[in-house]
Amino acid sequence: MSRFPDARLRRLRQSAPVRDLVRETSLEPRQLVLPMFVREGLTDAAPIGSMPGVVQHSLDSLKAAAADAAEAGLGGVMLFGVPAERDAIGSGADDPDGILNVAATALAAEVGDALVVQTDLCLDEFTDHGHCGVLTPAGAVDNDATLERYASMALAQARAGSQLLGLSGMMDGQVAVIREALDDEGFHDTLLLAYSAKYASAFYGPFREAVDSQLQGDRRTYQMDPGNRREGVREALFDQDEGADIVMVKPAMAFLDVLREVRDAVDVPVWAYQVSGEYAMIEAAAANGWIDRRAAVLESLMSIRRAGADAVLSYWAVEAARWLRTP
Ligand code: PBG
Repeated sequence: MSRFPDARLRRLRQSAPVRDLVRETSLEPRQLVLPMFVREGLTDAAPIGSMPGVVQHSLDSLKAAAADAAEAGLGGVMLFGVPAERDAIGSGADDPDGILNVAATALAAEVGDALVVQTDLCLDEFTDHGHCGVLTPAGAVDNDATLERYASMALAQARAGSQLLGLSGMMDGQVAVIREALDDEGFHDTLLLAYSAKYASAFYGPFREAVDSQLQGDRRTYQMDPGNRREGVREALFDQDEGADIVMVKPAMAFLDVLREVRDAVDVPVWAYQVSGEYAMIEAAAANGWIDRRAAVLESLMSIRRAGADAVLSYWAVEAARWLRTP
């Protein structure tokens, strides 16, 4: 009966226990990191319209939510600050009393033993023009002047108790400059996550609402062109050489090919950021009854892991962690 197959790949799919036994990729709560927004001056958490289920936190609601994240077994939380006042150089970013630094101190005390407390290191939330760096008189983003601001911001965050700094500004040389500034002050243990392959993506749309972004125009002179894959690998190799402890690809789902290539090219851990637009798309489809929300979320996270991410930043981190514990 040669028309029947000798090899039967379906044998490995016959039941849930067999499928569980042979699954190549794992997804565990410790591999998930929750991005969180904290807004200066809020007394209660405020919803973000384009990200249903995600909020801008007050300091109190932030602490409670971080405790939930620790309880769910997450690997970490990544903090973004929304200041009350902004200026041209982003003074709130390296002010020890700035919202992001105050929040880092609060979370280090609250959950710093249970998970890794992380802070976004970029100026865009703090500048009145919304760019990730300071500007030249002609209005261009000034790479090297921005590096000095980043070094100061890094020290403020490390002093505040942040355990891992997320370098998301896409300035050339930022990893080396920040590592040196930290080491000079004895912060040898402060971890650096480099957003190495960060693309100028339309999928950041809802995040701009989440941080009340002041940006006019775009970030195409510093974030990467979505058409480029080799360049993403090159960025990751540079950041590894400069001393990044972890490198990142962002967004995740539209750039899984870059993620796989970066994973194959570097020796450090590789993370991916499932960004606000990825969240909003699945939430919107699920709200319309067009997809199974839980299945789609878990499949998206599993796919990002399969493509090569050792950990994933995701707005679903806590909910997904709970699902993983009670399947
Ligand atoms: C910039 C930053 C952005 C995001 C994280 N860090 C926005 C941007 O580059 O415009 C986007 C995250 C998301 O969309 O979820 N500091």
